[in-house]
This record gives sequence, structure tokens and C-alpha cells, in this order.
Amino acid sequence: MFILAATGSAVGLGNIWKFPYITGENGGGAFVLVYLVCIALVGIPIMMAEVLLGRRGRQSPINTMRLLVKDENAAKVWQFIGWSGVVAGFLILSYYSVIAGWALAYVLRAARGLFTGITAEASTAAFGELLSDPKQLMIWHTLFMVMTTVVVARGVKSGLEQAVRVLMPALFILLLLLVGYAMNSGGFSQGAAFLFSPDFSKITAGVVLTAMGHAFFTLSLGMGAIMVYGSYLPDDASIAKTSVIIALMDTGVALLAGLAIFPIVFANGLPTGAGPGLIFQTLPIAFGNMPGGTFFGTLFFLLLTFAAWTSAISLIEPVVAWLVENRRVSRPLAASLVGLLTWLLGIVTVMSFSAWAFEFTFINETKSNGMFDIFDILTANIMLPLGGLAMAIFAGWVMKRESTVEEFGGDGFAYKLWRFVLRYITPLGVTVVFLKAFGVFDAGS
Ligand code: PHE
Repeated sequence: MFILAATGSAVGLGNIWKFPYITGENGGGAFVLVYLVCIALVGIPIMMAEVLLGRRGRQSPINTMRLLVKDENAAKVWQFIGWSGVVAGFLILSYYSVIAGWALAYVLRAARGLFTGITAEASTAAFGELLSDPKQLMIWHTLFMVMTTVVVARGVKSGLEQAVRVLMPALFILLLLLVGYAMNSGGFSQGAAFLFSPDFSKITAGVVLTAMGHAFFTLSLGMGAIMVYGSYLPDDASIAKTSVIIALMDTGVALLAGLAIFPIVFANGLPTGAGPGLIFQTLPIAFGNMPGGTFFGTLFFLLLTFAAWTSAISLIEPVVAWLVENRRVSRPLAASLVGLLTWLLGIVTVMSFSAWAFEFTFINETKSNGMFDIFDILTANIMLPLGGLAMAIFAGWVMKRESTVEEFGGDGFAYKLWRFVLRYITPLGVTVVFLKAFGVFDAGS
């Protein structure tokens, strides 16, 4: 149950939509390498910490942190971990839903056979048309928020977890099919080289921050989603093993998505830095030119929507669980309320792709669409790493060693390694990346 729920949360738009486009924007191989290092040294240790906190508290993140602060005689400020997570989840879902709406729109487009024989120019134009039409974006955003709210309101996730068991492997197989197409597209060696041969001159402090932020985002860390699911983990299950499995699956999906997309980019002379539209511009070309493309294309975007859905549920579950525990409101009411507020905030993102677009420069010299990028940077690159850093320090330094040994299930080699990395390497790494990116030392690098 825990593995299915946590995989459902981790695998989502972050892997298939975001990973390829930020890799493209940040120069390819060197970015991928930094991202992999962040998964190993920051993501996995913090995932173990977050699961551990969740299993020990067995409640919504806000109440879990309240309980642990009491049990461990810690200062009350640590409770902010629960609160900031709720805010981060709400902000992320507001734009996540809009992007998931693109995937929904593409289910319909694929099913109508609109990809058949499509050229690169036509595909890019078709995406642009969707983006600049707030009415369509609103319809799909609304539909996706309704879908998410309904599941959270009913609180029955067991059906979804069973679905994850079937649909995630299906998504994986379709990605393999796309990689197979990419191998014959004529751009495979260039695409693979772009992803895996690092050009270190592309690395700036901003690039490293983006890679680290993405490690948090893609593993759903730092905001309580994994904490909620950690409370499902039976006492005798291994926190270390399950966390590593989830991180490996998540990373595998992202790398496959990259291998499917960049060959198409090169084969068609498209720009690598196309931005958030990258997969929507490239994948229709693949589906449009393969046998059975209408069927596979429809299935792919359906599965992508499903993956986004299980992630979206985990984004609002912390706040809904907390409302239900404390405020004595019913689950349907809590879910509807949070869903409605998120939907409203999502309008800002919808508009940022058309009428409210403006360009700004921040950290990464990101040239962008305005509010969407502000939300993205604020949540993925700032709030999640800060939340995760706090969890690392809490589990590594504030909690008594015995408490973590007990939860971890012994203090063998795995425990000692985890604790060492979590206490020293992870916090130092996150802090240095932050200070560098915000220009605290040697500004300009
Ligand atoms: N991990 C999800 C994805 O990659 C997004 C997410 C972030 C979900 C944070 C929950 C919490 O799409």
C-alpha cells in the first residue's frame, strides 16, 4: 500500500513533463548529473526521514509534527514543517492542475486523430493555440480539479492504489515504446548525448538550485505528502528499502521520458529550451508517425493524466486530513473547500500563459511566462528544499537517536550511513546550494 501510494505521488508530471523541459532549458547532461547526485545525497535521505516522521506520528503532517515536538521535547518552531507543507501543497496544486489540464486536452486531441502525420511546425502551433486560449485551459483545469476533489472527498484511495499497480507499469511500457520510436527517429544518438554527456560549463548556481529543487519536487518531498503516506507503512516494513525502491522507479521514469523526447527534438530541429510545452510539442510527432499512433497517443495521455491525478491527490491530502482531524468538518466539505480555493488560485496560472504573461529574470535568468514561473520557483526551488532541510535537521539532530533507531528498525550499517548523510551531507548541501544561488557568497557565479 505504501509503495503504491508513494509511487503514485512521486511519479507524475514532474517526471514526464517537467524533467525533460528543465533539462532542455538547463543545458542537458550536466544538469542531469547534478540532479542524480541530488536524488542520491539529498532526496533519498530526506525521503527516509519524511517516511520515518510520518510513521512515528501516524496523523496529518501538522498533527504529526505537533506530537513529535512534544515527544522529543523540541522547540515549537519545528511545527512550521507541517504548516509550510500545507501552503506549498496548495500552491503547487494550483498550477499542477492547469498543466494536468493540458494532458487532458491532449487525450481528446489524440483520440480525434489530430496527430496523424503531424509535422513539427504544426505540432508547435497546435500547442500554442491551446496555451493562448484561457477558455479551453479553464475547462480542463476545472475538470481536473473536480476529479481530484471527488477522490479526496470520498477518501477511498484503495481503488486508486490498485489502479497504480496496473497503470504505472502500463505508462512505463508506453514510455519504452516511445523510446523505441525515438531510436529510429534519426536523432537518438544526439538526444542521448544531450542527456548523458555533461558539459560542465553549463553549470551555474541557479542550475544547481533547479536540479536540487526538482529532486524534491519529483520525489514529492518536503511538504508532507510522503509523511501522510508514511503513516500507512507497517511497523515491520523497512523504511530504507521502500524509499530506495520508490526513488529508483521515479528516476527511471524521468530518464525514459528524456530518452523518448530529446531524439525527437533533434530529429526535427526543435529547440531544446522550448520550455513547459516541450512534451506537448514533441510527442504528438512521434504518435502521429507511428502505426497505431491514435490508440497509443490516447492511451499515453490518459495514463499521464492518471499519474498527475494520483500526485494531485497527495498534494491536498495533508491539509484535508488535518481539517478532518481537528476542525470536525466532514471530509467532503474539507475537500470541496480546499479544492475550490486551489481552483481559484489556478486561474492565475491560466492567465499567466496568455493575458497575464510578462517576462522577468530571477535566479536562473529564466525568461518566462510570469506568474507560473514565480509559483514554480517559489515552491519547487525554495519551499520544498526548506521544508526538507527542516525535516533532515529535525530527524537527524533534534530527535533522540533511540527514537530514530526504533523507527528505522535497528542501528546497523544502513542506519549509520543514513544518519551520517542526513546529519552532515544533506543539510550542508542544501544550505550551500541556497547560499550560492542567492548570491550570498561570490555573487555573480
Ligand atoms: N512528485 C510529483 C510529480 O513528480 C509532484 C508532487 C510534488 C506531488 C510534491 C506531491 C508533492 O509530478
